[in-house]
Amino acid sequence: MSRITDTDLAQRFGTPTYVYDADLIRTRCHRLKAAFAGSPVDLLYAVKANDNPHVLDIIRREGLGFDTVSFEEALLGIRVGQDPSRIWYTENNMTDEEMTEALDAGVYLNIGSYTRLEAFCRSGHAQRTCSIRVNPAIGDGHHAKVDTGNRDSKFGIRLDLIPAAVELAAAHGVRITGLHLHIGSGIQHPSNLIAAMDRLLETAARIPTLERINFGGGFPIPYREGEAEFALEAFAEQARSRFAQPGITYFFEPGRWIVAPAGHLLTRVNTVKDQGRVTFLGTDTGFNHLLRPALYEAYHAVENASRPAETPTTVYTIAGNICETGDILAEDRRLPETALGDLLRIRDTGAYGMTMASHYNRRPLPAEVLLEEGAPRLIRPRASAESVVESLLTETGYPA
Ligand code: LLP
Repeated sequence: MSRITDTDLAQRFGTPTYVYDADLIRTRCHRLKAAFAGSPVDLLYAVKANDNPHVLDIIRREGLGFDTVSFEEALLGIRVGQDPSRIWYTENNMTDEEMTEALDAGVYLNIGSYTRLEAFCRSGHAQRTCSIRVNPAIGDGHHAKVDTGNRDSKFGIRLDLIPAAVELAAAHGVRITGLHLHIGSGIQHPSNLIAAMDRLLETAARIPTLERINFGGGFPIPYREGEAEFALEAFAEQARSRFAQPGITYFFEPGRWIVAPAGHLLTRVNTVKDQGRVTFLGTDTGFNHLLRPALYEAYHAVENASRPAETPTTVYTIAGNICETGDILAEDRRLPETALGDLLRIRDTGAYGMTMASHYNRRPLPAEVLLEEGAPRLIRPRASAESVVESLLTETGYPA
């Protein structure tokens, strides 16, 4: 079947629209599984990267478990058919209520603070096993805001407190069956992950109750033209010799690597403005739909989908439609001479695009379309202006 073009998709579903390629998501799941085949490794998908239920369903059917970071994500995982025992819930400032709900639901709790471990131990809940998240004091990531493993980050229990944490658990009849770390997202130097893994394994060797060791996610993808791919197979090869403790299953939980390259955002140019020094292309989307450039100065390649054959001759800055100066999606990009009505493709936005989108400026969320063997399926329609306003009035209890 010939693949439908972005122009056709925009015509049919309007803009802004996130487009995901189901086949590519599957291919990447296969590649991950193949890289770790023959090792006692289990793979989880970090739901926060893209939690459209149709996307989750594809990944679950590929045999991956889920990494979740809120009770809501865990519940969503169960709702799309994931086996609760294959859902890790890595908590952040979890409340007692969320803890009880998660334990009742049968998901596997990964506790990241000493005070939460105390609360779990004292809870008297029938579930008496959990994992603990370690702060390995080794961090990495594409931006300081997503470096989670450094010693000053809010994540994980300090390494030197781990023996006390294990003792505390034992004193309450709680078995620490898992040990976890996540050093950051979009890792720049995979050697940092290997070093953190070694640090975790040293600690693990002193905890006889362990059954699972989880090294987190963070596998990067190239966003810039010409940037090198993450050498997944070479990394897996390097990691392999470390999967040596009998009776242990080792875990990785990538999000971005699986879905980022499988998605792009389609947006239409509705304003062209020469401000003298900068020429802006104004679009019908903004940082309410794609926050990464504004929040992390993240780079996403932009292409003019209406003029695939034309030479890039002109430098533009691509601006969003949000009422803030910082709503810039891409700066100083060379594109073909672009006209009103042209369609732009913002690439590699399958991860942390829609999941970080908001209704800021009271705009609707983008639509989402899933391509299966090139055929499109609308997996989330765009809400009308009227329904966006009506939802707000209903949710706030504003009198009719
Ligand atoms: N595991 C844990 C415990 C995590 O906190 C994360 C991401 C992952 C796994 C998956 O990381 P990944 O493989 O996707 O790098 N919004 C940011 C990324 C934040 C990631 C937070 N944690 C961005 O757009 O770059």
